[in-house]
Amino acid sequence: MTSIRPIQPEDHPALMALWQRTPGIQLRAEDDFAPFCAYLRRNPGLSLLCEHEGRLLGCVLVGHDGRRGYLQHLVVDESCRGQGLARALLRQALAQLAELGIHKSHVFVLTDAPGALEFWRAQAGWSARSDIQVYSSRREG
Ligand SMILES: CC(C)(COP(=O)(O)OP(=O)(O)OC[C@H]1O[C@@H](n2cnc3c(N)ncnc32)[C@H](O)[C@@H]1OP(=O)(O)O)[C@@H](O)C(=O)NCCC(=O)NCCS
Repeated sequence: MTSIRPIQPEDHPALMALWQRTPGIQLRAEDDFAPFCAYLRRNPGLSLLCEHEGRLLGCVLVGHDGRRGYLQHLVVDESCRGQGLARALLRQALAQLAELGIHKSHVFVLTDAPGALEFWRAQAGWSARSDIQVYSSRREG
């Protein structure tokens, strides 16, 4: 049976392997083990994976800042797509955020990722924002 459960630190190697073999997923220093664990501690129980008999099928990283939820690295392994796994992960992630009083969430999608854009365009309840530009800053060191 396919099940969804919170991501644990020990899931890191399998998640890294999934992200690395998924075109369009960009790995950053924040995906290394220590910051990954810090992220899970800061957002306990929110990041989810789905699995079948111990095999990782998909995942989503979920966090919030007290006002808005943020989703990253939503991935379903290629051979398992089109079965509603991403929809199930999203449903549970948003329900868990709502229990914490977080009713609005964002996902940042690269404009050169047509597959991902198409997916998000098709999701009921999600709308693309044309009134916002994202500015990012990275402090070196
Ligand atoms: C995007 C992704 C997570 C979708 O996973 P999935 O399990 O196949 O999606 P689901 O089967 O749950 O589909 C949910 C809905 O989205 C639709 N959908 C799925 N993939 C789609 C796509 N590429 N384009 C348009 N619609 C899509 C499905 O038809 C379904 O619609 P329905 O609810 O009306 O039936 C998967 O294709 C993936 O891992 N892609 C590579 C990584 C990626 O781009 N992630 C997004 C990062 S922002």
